[in-house]
Amino acid sequence: NKNPQTGIMGAQKPHAICIPFPAQGHINPMLKLAKLLHDEGDFHVTFVNTEYNHRRLLKARGANALDGLPTFRFETIPDGLPPSETVDATQDIPSLCDSTTTTCLAPFKKLIARLNEAGDAPPVSCIVSDGVMSFTLDAAAELGLPEVLFWTTSACGFYAYTQFEKIKIMGYAPLKGTWMLYYSNITYSLYIHDRLNQRISRHGGGRNPRHERHTLERHPSFIRTTDPDDFMLRFISQETTRAKRASAIILNTFDALEQDVLEALSAFLPPTYAVGPLHLLETGLTDRLDRLGSNLWKEEPECLNWLDSQEPGSVVYVNFGSITVMTPGQLTEFAWGLANSGQCFLWVIRPDLVSGDNAVLEPEFLEETRGRGRMASWCPQERVLRHPAVGGFLTHSGWNSTLESVSNGVPMICWPFFAEQQTNCRYCCNQWGVGKEIGGDVKRDEVEKQVRSLMVGEEGEGMRRRAAEWKKLAAEAAKGASRRNLRRVIDEVLLGKV
Ligand code: UDX
Repeated sequence: NKNPQTGIMGAQKPHAICIPFPAQGHINPMLKLAKLLHDEGDFHVTFVNTEYNHRRLLKARGANALDGLPTFRFETIPDGLPPSETVDATQDIPSLCDSTTTTCLAPFKKLIARLNEAGDAPPVSCIVSDGVMSFTLDAAAELGLPEVLFWTTSACGFYAYTQFEKIKIMGYAPLKGTWMLYYSNITYSLYIHDRLNQRISRHGGGRNPRHERHTLERHPSFIRTTDPDDFMLRFISQETTRAKRASAIILNTFDALEQDVLEALSAFLPPTYAVGPLHLLETGLTDRLDRLGSNLWKEEPECLNWLDSQEPGSVVYVNFGSITVMTPGQLTEFAWGLANSGQCFLWVIRPDLVSGDNAVLEPEFLEETRGRGRMASWCPQERVLRHPAVGGFLTHSGWNSTLESVSNGVPMICWPFFAEQQTNCRYCCNQWGVGKEIGGDVKRDEVEKQVRSLMVGEEGEGMRRRAAEWKKLAAEAAKGASRRNLRRVIDEVLLGKV
């Protein structure tokens, strides 16, 4: 009575062990997915945080915040970094990638063995791991378990990552001279993608070159290095190459939004499913699960009360996510751009947003914007973007933020910082028509002009209309295609019924 693929006995629940990469933008979507597996798939779930993040979550959310259910439990493993009171382990992404890759496999396997021996839960029957935690594939292979890799990026960002190895082999990365770093991101990306297109066309390609043209519009920041030993370049190549070993890959996007790219990915990867926007699929979960949150910073929900007092569509929401760092000069330019735009704004300034913890705003700015500007250090973003008072979003183009914005019909000004945010930004602006990019070397006049245009200009109006259409399609996907895809991942891959 045992399923040969999953090892699940008769009526025993399947047991999914879910392991996110230990940073905010990865924990959030993984927790949503884990909850869906629990409620939709009737899985027993073990959610694995790093010890460091576990402590932070308890601090930010209260001592009982992670008391799950008997069938939804939290466990921890070390992240491998030296303990530090002063350094935030989630901010140095290369170090974190390095330490998780080199140190986490052994404690992860030990954890699975302990869970299986404890006997108070069904044996672990499948692994759901973040795409950049591919060491978990070795555990899955050793134990004969199916594993789904969850890449928490956009499909277009993920696609661009999958081209890194090819770009390296072709000799375009690392860059040959520092002069190339001064080229605009766009010029360099277009240069690479034209070369790739020519090459693919010349060799018959085997794939539709239109996909290449479409998907390689702008490369993630990690490609812009002159260092032949650059860690992130190597790491991304390695992780995307290893992705081929997964039983399936899932992405937090929806078919209608990234159809072409999803098709291009399916041509060379294991079955790839779009199951997003996860925040729309997870509505209607049981209360006890709903309560489990994943914010590493303490939320300031009072800003929602302030939004309640504002006119519909009148507030520009400003937030640069969990990793972006800017200079004091850039902070000042954003501040005066917002002040001079004359618009109302809610600005979330993370305590470490400015290098050297220097997020200090001039008293003149505070005086000038009194009554129409509201500041917070961290907010319940999904609820903010859902709030009718919010009419636009000045964002760093992180994928979660982008998807939360698109699916709420909120148009964006994009100021991408790193990773695949550059690719997301390009798609928002050129493909989906919901964003306008602001120059990396930010100037107050441009901020002022763009914020006005977004909030009260014709261009902003057009973007808002298109965002409203995407909102409708996102809602349809959550009820239709994405939910069906999730069901297929559960049945065909994690339960091995097919
Ligand atoms: C980064 C990358 O940008 C992203 O594309 C990649 O896939 C993961 O790492 P991050 O800077 O964390 O992510 O941004 P984002 O992907 O937008 O995720 C931030 C998350 O934190 C969102 O889910 C957002 O709702 C939440 N958040 C952010 C809050 O709840 N409150 C805040 O004040 C800010």
